[in-house]
Amino acid sequence: MAGNAKPHERGEWGSRFGFVLAAAGSAIGLGNIWRFPYVTGQNGGAAFLILYLLCVLLLGVPVMVAELTIGRYSRRNPVGAFATIRPGSYWTLVGYLGVLTGVCILSYYTVMAGYSIGYIVKTLINNQTSFESFTANTWLSIPLFLAFMVLTVLVVQGGIKDGIERWAKILMPILLLLLVVLIIRSITLPGAGKGLTFYFKPDFSKVTGKTILAALGQAFFSLSLGMGAMITYGSYLSKRDNIVTSGCYVAFFDTLIAVMAGLLIFPALFAMGLDPSEGPGLVFKVLPKIFASIPGGNVVGAGFFLLLSIAALTSTISLLEVATAFLVDEKHWLRRRAVWIVALVGLCLGLPSVLSQGAVSWLSNLPLPGGDFLGFMDWLFANIMLAVGAFLISVFFAWIWRLNAAAAEILEGYPGFQRFSVVFDILLKFFCPAVILVLLFFLFKGVL
Ligand code: TRP
Repeated sequence: MAGNAKPHERGEWGSRFGFVLAAAGSAIGLGNIWRFPYVTGQNGGAAFLILYLLCVLLLGVPVMVAELTIGRYSRRNPVGAFATIRPGSYWTLVGYLGVLTGVCILSYYTVMAGYSIGYIVKTLINNQTSFESFTANTWLSIPLFLAFMVLTVLVVQGGIKDGIERWAKILMPILLLLLVVLIIRSITLPGAGKGLTFYFKPDFSKVTGKTILAALGQAFFSLSLGMGAMITYGSYLSKRDNIVTSGCYVAFFDTLIAVMAGLLIFPALFAMGLDPSEGPGLVFKVLPKIFASIPGGNVVGAGFFLLLSIAALTSTISLLEVATAFLVDEKHWLRRRAVWIVALVGLCLGLPSVLSQGAVSWLSNLPLPGGDFLGFMDWLFANIMLAVGAFLISVFFAWIWRLNAAAAEILEGYPGFQRFSVVFDILLKFFCPAVILVLLFFLFKGVL
């Protein structure tokens, strides 16, 4: 059993509930609480929310199930998974792409996560330093970045059941509880009603091609799709588990938390008469103003950043786990060694990102999409590579492996799948690849 796993054994989730929490933990992160509200704010509120829900349902869920199935069938990391299903083919490269993307996202995601722990203390002690001077201060940002990486390592080092699953079971309920408390505070502020209108009453005249693009990109990033994180998490599933319902639970919780994050932020924002389209700084610049103006706001604010840090931690765990699983499975490294080495690579790669937030001026002003080094990494890996990855994964699943073969794996644990298999096949064969190609086309057009 996984609980007594020897250092070089793979391990397995202790229960299905444990898996759902861990995978939801991977999905729920800065993407839900920091990114989702600001993207929704920039794209006009309710109409964006509806498009986002459609993207999750029609593209997110099928790709999620495809990834989990590939993982559970092969019981391997992304590289090993493609090699198991199509030995000796170029498809293994998709696995390598995933491992690389994971480490690269880890490198800058941890920088942002570090800010979030810094803000717990900053808000608690009512420190008024601006976000810009905070991030430009390397005496703060580098140690925070390091600390967050070490925290991630300590969890992943513990393995699947005793590390990742155990911490997800502790952290996720705390996150939900904090979120509920903060929402109650937010919607009872005087004037909160306007925020609810903005968030729930759609105005479709604001929808453009760009809105759809933003919704799709947000869906992949938020569900942790396109780089094999779910292949890896699926590889620790037991054959008794129902992949489809497990995947739906994960997508459901991820979406629920994103929607709740909006419910926390928009009422407060409108109650204070602030602008919802502030952009990436929304959570770090606008929210502190709100916290400063309510009694006991420093404690509420510290609670919020604690929530953000917890959500980020369960996500960095999954980003680190992909490359770790690769080294453990394919290179037969001990888990402990693999984890530290991958983290070290992540730290080196992340250094230019930390320095690009004001500390080093040329890194902060690059003539590239994204504007600064961190922004560029986010553009390249979160926008482009995840879309490319999701495209290749759906093509591989539906055209190369084919549903006939894959369905055997899904049916094990879920005999009822037969009823949905046609719709599922059509979505993965035609709909997902086509929509993603259009997305990529427009992403590049935006740059060129
Ligand atoms: N989904 C996480 C978030 O919303 C980020 C994340 C973790 C991720 N692991 C991933 C994104 C794998 C893409 C792929 O913050």
